[in-house]
Amino acid sequence: MSSNHPDLLSYPLVGNVIAKTNDTKQCRRKKNRMFTLSVTVLITAWSCVYCKRTSGRQEWPVPYRRFDHRPAADPYCQALYPFCPSGESDGRVPRMALSDRIDIFRLQTPVWEFKYGDLLGKFHIMHDAIGFRSRDTGKNYTMEWYELFQLGNCTFPHIREGKSAPFWCNQGAACFFEGIDDLHWTQNGTLEKVGQMSGTQFNDMTQWVQDDNRTGIFYETWTVQAEPCPNSTIWFESYDCSQFVHRTYRKLADFGVKLSSAIQTNYTKIYLFSGEPSFLGNDSSIFEDAAKKALAEDIRNFYYAFRPHQSVKDFIISFIKLFDKVVLEKSFYLFYNFEYWYLPMKPPYVKITYEEVPLPSVV
Ligand SMILES: *[C@@H]1O[C@H](CO)[C@@H](O)[C@H](O)[C@H]1NC(C)=O
Ligand SMILES: *[C@@H]1O[C@H](CO)[C@@H](O)[C@H](O)[C@H]1NC(C)=O
Ligand SMILES: *[C@@H]1O[C@H](CO)[C@@H](O)[C@H](O)[C@H]1NC(C)=O
Ligand SMILES: *[C@@H]1O[C@H](CO)[C@@H](O)[C@H](O)[C@H]1NC(C)=O
Ligand SMILES: *[C@@H]1O[C@H](CO)[C@@H](O)[C@H](O)[C@H]1NC(C)=O
Ligand SMILES: *[C@@H]1O[C@H](CO)[C@@H](O)[C@H](O)[C@H]1NC(C)=O
Ligand SMILES: *[C@@H]1O[C@H](CO)[C@@H](O)[C@H](O)[C@H]1NC(C)=O
Repeated sequence: MSSNHPDLLSYPLVGNVIAKTNDTKQCRRKKNRMFTLSVTVLITAWSCVYCKRTSGRQEWPVPYRRFDHRPAADPYCQALYPFCPSGESDGRVPRMALSDRIDIFRLQTPVWEFKYGDLLGKFHIMHDAIGFRSRDTGKNYTMEWYELFQLGNCTFPHIREGKSAPFWCNQGAACFFEGIDDLHWTQNGTLEKVGQMSGTQFNDMTQWVQDDNRTGIFYETWTVQAEPCPNSTIWFESYDCSQFVHRTYRKLADFGVKLSSAIQTNYTKIYLFSGEPSFLGNDSSIFEDAAKKALAEDIRNFYYAFRPHQSVKDFIISFIKLFDKVVLEKSFYLFYNFEYWYLPMKPPYVKITYEEVPLPSVV
């Protein structure tokens, strides 16, 4: 990989996190240009042909769509590794005695390619989960949320013969199983007790998880933001393993559970940077409308270069190809809520960060 990309290390995305001082300076400079920019955006918005879908202003970030149930995955999508092999097949989670005390663990580990491969240290691509341990029974459990058909399939669609629309195998779901594999989480990762709750709180959490799992069905790799600055507008939020962990922690905090960590709680985020996105449509409104033939062709061509691969390492290679393409063409077709959006890309285009998200506090 590095022989194809000798200047890889000079790419901003490999820096993982741009130095804070640069960030702030860059943000201040950007602010002065913000007014001019917002006037331009306003004028463009008036003439925006795609805005007719939403009456009034588009809400940012675009709310992640909830479904009333999870559809079965299309048989075309075949998992190389079975999803949640040690979980109960119906997603059942054991009930805890109401008076039980349950320890809560923050779990994080590098995706294995990054632990054992030459990519370690260049990218912090982490997987996150939560662990529980019942004081009554001594049994412990792991809860995580991940892709049914792996990261590549959630990030890049399949371009299939005879189908004009790109085909996505992008479901993600929660997996709950008995046991915590201490070694897995402690090698280059984290296994830390961050709190304790009652059996009642655990059972309430379970109810919420099942609901969340039924209604939130697709994985989203990208966070799309206007600038690489902390307070900049977020156009789209990712929906991945770490977001699930954050949602769960927030839920626990809502229940009154106190969480704290002795170490900095950082998470992987994969960013795209763009100007204000415009809505394009869904499969039927784009790919079955003769008038949108050129757009349909563009979207297919865009994704043709990044067909999903088997490993995270291949994903990173696609990711670097994508970076080149996006820099040249300054555009990206984002698939979110099963609809396409056009992103007018701008520097630094794409970036992988490993940044702090503090544990929520009880209000
Ligand atoms: C991605 O999806 C394709 C199509 O179903 C499948 O053949 C492949 O095994 C999937 N990849 C992984 C890693 O599951
Ligand atoms: C979440 O949904 C998936 C897919 O239907 C299922 O396999 C899994 O058991 C569910 N997990 C929980 C915790 O309900
Ligand atoms: C979870 O249980 C297993 C099996 O008893 C044990 O080896 C492991 O140390 C436990 N981990 C935690 C964090 O409690
Ligand atoms: C990561 O873990 C592996 C296996 O335990 C070890 O060989 C390697 O030195 C560790 N790397 C770092 C940076 O801690
Ligand atoms: C972001 O917003 C917070 C709260 O409004 C503020 O304290 C902080 O200084 C802002 N950071 C930047 C870089 O503008
Ligand atoms: C696709 O968009 C069209 C036009 O907005 C809408 O009528 C249709 O219900 C949408 N299809 C799906 C599957 O959401
Ligand atoms: C964790 O995040 C903070 C702030 O987001 C950052 O300053 C720090 O370098 C990160 N730690 C690592 C190990 O990357």
